[in-house]
Amino acid sequence: MIICHCQRISDRDINAAIDWMRASDPSTIITPGKIYRALGKRADCGGCMPLFLSTMKANTNLKVPAELTGLRTTAQMEGQADEGRRKGN
Ligand code: FES
Repeated sequence: MIICHCQRISDRDINAAIDWMRASDPSTIITPGKIYRALGKRADCGGCMPLFLSTMKANTNLKVPAELTGLRTTAQMEGQADEGRRKGN
């Protein structure tokens, strides 16, 4: 099924790209941008993103690697008021 009509990307293309990225680097974080790059394409209108993301989420190889989950616990985050960004311009 065609997921991205602008770039003619199918669900099979997305799943193949995810499987290839996971096989080549088990600790990588897979994003839609990386999938577009792996396929040699760029997003155009972005209208496909909801369907693109749901197709990605359906792939079992998409999950975040175990060593990268839970890096910051909620106890560590409670002491931080913000991310250190300035309030205004
Ligand atoms: S439909 Fe995917 S970028 Fe337009």
